[in-house]
Amino acid sequence: MHLNVAAALIVNDLGEVLCVKRGASKFASTAFRWEFPGGKIDVGETPSQAVVREIQEELSMEIRALADAPIIHHVYDEFSITLHGILCTPTTNKPPVLNEHIDACWLPADKLWSLEFAAADKPLLTWLRERTFGTHLRTQIFGRAVTFLDDCTSTNDILLAQAEAGAKEGTLVVSEKQSAGRGRLGRHWLSEPGQALLFSFLVRPTLPPDEAATITLVAGLAVTLTLREMQISVGLKWPNDVLLEEKKLCGILCEAQSSIHGIEGIIIGVGINTGIVPESIAYRAIAPKDKNIDRLELLARILKTFESLYERWTKGGLKALRSELDACDAKRDKRITVKMSEIPTTGIARGIQDDGSLLVELSSGEQTALHCGEILQWD
Ligand code: BTN
Repeated sequence: MHLNVAAALIVNDLGEVLCVKRGASKFASTAFRWEFPGGKIDVGETPSQAVVREIQEELSMEIRALADAPIIHHVYDEFSITLHGILCTPTTNKPPVLNEHIDACWLPADKLWSLEFAAADKPLLTWLRERTFGTHLRTQIFGRAVTFLDDCTSTNDILLAQAEAGAKEGTLVVSEKQSAGRGRLGRHWLSEPGQALLFSFLVRPTLPPDEAATITLVAGLAVTLTLREMQISVGLKWPNDVLLEEKKLCGILCEAQSSIHGIEGIIIGVGINTGIVPESIAYRAIAPKDKNIDRLELLARILKTFESLYERWTKGGLKALRSELDACDAKRDKRITVKMSEIPTTGIARGIQDDGSLLVELSSGEQTALHCGEILQWD
């Protein structure tokens, strides 16, 4: 049996979704409450017209069609479905009168993960997420090729596979959940589903490895500057953290895609806490309070900031970003304990240098450059 199904996403001006409706003749309803029970495509009607008409009848809601979503084919054991998707919006500002589904409410595209949509609707939701992200995105390169996932091991893993298959610079992978999110120095990266912005994007700089390695700081700067623009008082902690109120808000993990020719690309993996942080790490991790962060918008803004920093960095290295680096450095002129070898050492941080190292003034007065390692403690 083959079914022709029309599905509609009803969105408001902000791209927030009221609900997903589906109409089909003889459709065996297996789905959750968003399912349209029954439905009929009248003779001479296109599936899109049918769904608009049915929503108007069923929900007493004056709507208009905004755009057609891609046609999606689902093949099941007993039947196949062709889903004609359509994006609809109410034509008036009046709140919709809902005959049924009175529990429906506007929901940002960013929060769609929290509802159990019918499996057949998922491609429509992904489409909406891409579309909403696209309306925020102001870049030329970064984020122009994007994969949105509900779940994966690590966005770095997925992007590494794409990079090895030849993905272009700027390719982006975003996921709601990670089952094996990782951090620097073999650590795990923990986050609750939907409570963090988890993404990886690809750069292909043509620089010697030492210079290319400073990209972590460029990414950290992009996150810091973007959050500051949003009135969130964060600072960059060398080499890969963004802190809020001395706790970790964001971590960055860069991994190389190498071949016999050397480094072909760098995967920049970023995790930003935007909601509830896992209890086990709450003593050292934080998310912005009282900020209703739209993660799709935040992501688009970070990529825009990154793109302009990246252009300057590829021409002039970290030196070209000196004023931003100094302004964002959370630990400059602060007392810190660093792990340089096995023995932790205390000193005063004297800033991030052009080669990406951290200058530390030891208690002897001697200054030393830390090329790797981490700041363990600070005042
Ligand atoms: C760190 O703090 O040591 C780095 C944490 C990096 C976490 C992000 S989440 C998205 C991307 N995928 C991963 O597995 N890790 C990075």
